[in-house]
Amino acid sequence: MKAQIIDGKSVAAQIREEVRNDVAALAGNGKPGLAVILVGNDPASEVYVRNKGRACEKAGIHSVTRKLPETTSEAELLAEIDALNNDNNFHGILVQLPLPPHIDAQKVIEAVSPEKDVDCFHPFNVGKLVIGMPLFAPCTPAGIVELLARYNIDPSGKHVVVLGRSNIVGKPMANLLVQKAKGANAIVTVAHSAAQDLKALTLQADILVAAIGRPEFVTADMVKEDAVIIDVGINRVDDPSRERGYRLTGDVDFESIAEKASYITPVPGGVGPMTIAMLLKNTLTAYQNLNR
Ligand code: GUN
Repeated sequence: MKAQIIDGKSVAAQIREEVRNDVAALAGNGKPGLAVILVGNDPASEVYVRNKGRACEKAGIHSVTRKLPETTSEAELLAEIDALNNDNNFHGILVQLPLPPHIDAQKVIEAVSPEKDVDCFHPFNVGKLVIGMPLFAPCTPAGIVELLARYNIDPSGKHVVVLGRSNIVGKPMANLLVQKAKGANAIVTVAHSAAQDLKALTLQADILVAAIGRPEFVTADMVKEDAVIIDVGINRVDDPSRERGYRLTGDVDFESIAEKASYITPVPGGVGPMTIAMLLKNTLTAYQNLNR
């Protein structure tokens, strides 16, 4: 294999340790707190939420997970968020997405106090991000910027092609990397599946961020020699040979692309662990901002 593996698991562990030390240094001055709300029983969401809670605990962050039934009404959820907005024990509030279809997710996102919006999903925080004055950096894109920095991959002046335009990854990724700032300053193209010639775009990428949510969608012929490949996909594909009946795969064809790329993130163990590490960092930031 030619590409160097970007070890997100190990970088995330370093960041979590840094946060743990910073939290410990607060000593008697209180403790950052994160409230996580999960509505319903989506199995992937249950795993994510459990991992977030455990990571908080290990970093010394007070964390509570409110598990609400699938039948929870929008009004009940909004009331829960309102109570947390006014609860001084919690500095961060995270509502795990997706929400059940009878709940208006945008309304819920906008109900979270921007000062506690550690996901950076509130339009106020999205706007601050776009103008380069963010309160919080959105967790997954910020985790990717951090990975590039810690591997000395400088996006400045490079062409980054972001595959996918979601509000959680694609759009905030582009907004972060286009900023005139250290660790950014890139030329950014946001591409998606409706492109007339997607391959012509991806072949231009010095850095390709795949966040399209389709297993092994990006193949080696779509990638430039020596490109940096960041795989945000976490797809469950059926695999009867595994005890749990599925395996996790990214949005890129790892085996063949690793022969062509200069760097590549694995799935699992690449971008995924960084999302949680950045969430802890944002919770600490929220605590610091609210206690200034
Ligand atoms: N669902 C998938 N990713 C995320 C995330 O980063 N935050 C929240 N709240 N929900 C998600």
